[in-house]
Amino acid sequence: MGKNTVTLTNNSTNESFEFDLIECTRGPKAIDFGKLFEKTGIFSYDPGYASTAGCKSTISYIDGKNGVLLYRGIPIQDLVAKYKFTDICSLLISGELPKDSTESAEIDLELRHLSFLHEGLINIFKAFPDGAHPMANLSSAVGALSTFYKDYMEIDNDDEYQMMAKRMIAKIPTLVAFSYRNSIGYPNVYPDISRSYVENFLFMLRAFPDGKLKRTLQGEVEIDKLEVEALDKIFTLHADHGQNASTTTVRNVASTGVHPYAAISAGINALWGPSHGGANEKVLAQLAEIDDAKNVDKFIARVKDKNDPFRLMGFGHRVYKNYDPRAKVLKGLKDDLAKKGIKMNNKFSDIAEKIEEVALKDEYFIERNLYPNVDFYSGIILTALKIPVSLFTPIFVIGRMPGWCAQVIEHIKSGARITRPRQVYEGK
Ligand code: CMC
Repeated sequence: MGKNTVTLTNNSTNESFEFDLIECTRGPKAIDFGKLFEKTGIFSYDPGYASTAGCKSTISYIDGKNGVLLYRGIPIQDLVAKYKFTDICSLLISGELPKDSTESAEIDLELRHLSFLHEGLINIFKAFPDGAHPMANLSSAVGALSTFYKDYMEIDNDDEYQMMAKRMIAKIPTLVAFSYRNSIGYPNVYPDISRSYVENFLFMLRAFPDGKLKRTLQGEVEIDKLEVEALDKIFTLHADHGQNASTTTVRNVASTGVHPYAAISAGINALWGPSHGGANEKVLAQLAEIDDAKNVDKFIARVKDKNDPFRLMGFGHRVYKNYDPRAKVLKGLKDDLAKKGIKMNNKFSDIAEKIEEVALKDEYFIERNLYPNVDFYSGIILTALKIPVSLFTPIFVIGRMPGWCAQVIEHIKSGARITRPRQVYEGK
């Protein structure tokens, strides 16, 4: 057997250089190019980091070819079937699932107690104009959170960074609810800690300021147990996803030594884009634009037209070259909720299923391995849960928060150097 190295030969100078191969527990090995420049005087060029591992991680693992996603080694399907989102937060942050239902309830309760915001922070929402996108309000508010918890600047002990993460996970639903209510000019509804983490979020969105649910902003709507369970699963499915654009942003910003909340605020901004978490909002706009399942063929022809920049939102992924396992669970959840009597927008559901049917048989999509991703069906479910479209991406933020917190902790603990890529200069 050969050595665990690769040799790089510069054909113009005939020089050869040896680099170590880094072993991993799953997935492809990586060439250790850390000393590439020092040894050879040349850089690697990989815009979009399609082949570049920026860190070592133990948090989540994606096998894109086989459509597999694991959190701490456990398949996402098992986690979503057996555990609550707050259990998943524990798994990602501390590495362990709660050992029993008592511990699980304690975790949820601790998060509920931390869900309130400093009154000073609430004022920040008042400065934003009506109609502002909740994602814009949210990233500012999370950045501002660092001014209230400045003691957690140096996370050099376990308790401090666990608390940093718990605060963030606990407060993010409140921040989302407040940023939405302020964006439409409604007064805030404070957390009700007698309700579970997920139910409390729906309560803060829906209740009248007197804390009554009977007549809600959306009409006569109580909180249904099925809605809580569905939203809980949606959060779990979004909880972590390797080194995607927003997580990479969080790590890069954290590498400069800033407060973790400042790094997470940057991650929220990265997630907002339509190529990333903002796609869920765009999927719904696309379904509305298509309007009828009979228009799908015309629409697909437009997507395939090279002269049209139009893309099918909720389709395609840098890593998955197979059906996104999260989308598979969501499709099942959509059908299950409809069977159990949760009112779906059947028109949107029919259009989405027709798109999938047409696309999966079409050469364009087959050649490029384009399949539904997590954003394709989530919007249909969120609409059925009476979540406003402008909150789809903030819902992604709530779900991704334990992942970002775990990643920021892992990055800081690893003692990683400041992120400082090179460039191929083409200027004067
Ligand atoms: N519709 C039509 N064509 C597509 C799509 C799509 N959604 N996605 C990729 N392609 C084509 C693309 O035009 C290119 O074709 P060609 O080789 O002929 O130029 C080929 O597939 C490869 O695309 P790419 O842009 O090089 O792929 P990427 O890995 O850089 O981009 C992506 C990944 C997710 C940004 C892209 O698939 C996309 O824009 N999808 C729509 C937006 C979306 O749903 N985003 C959510 C991603 S999952 C949730 C998350 O993690 O944020």
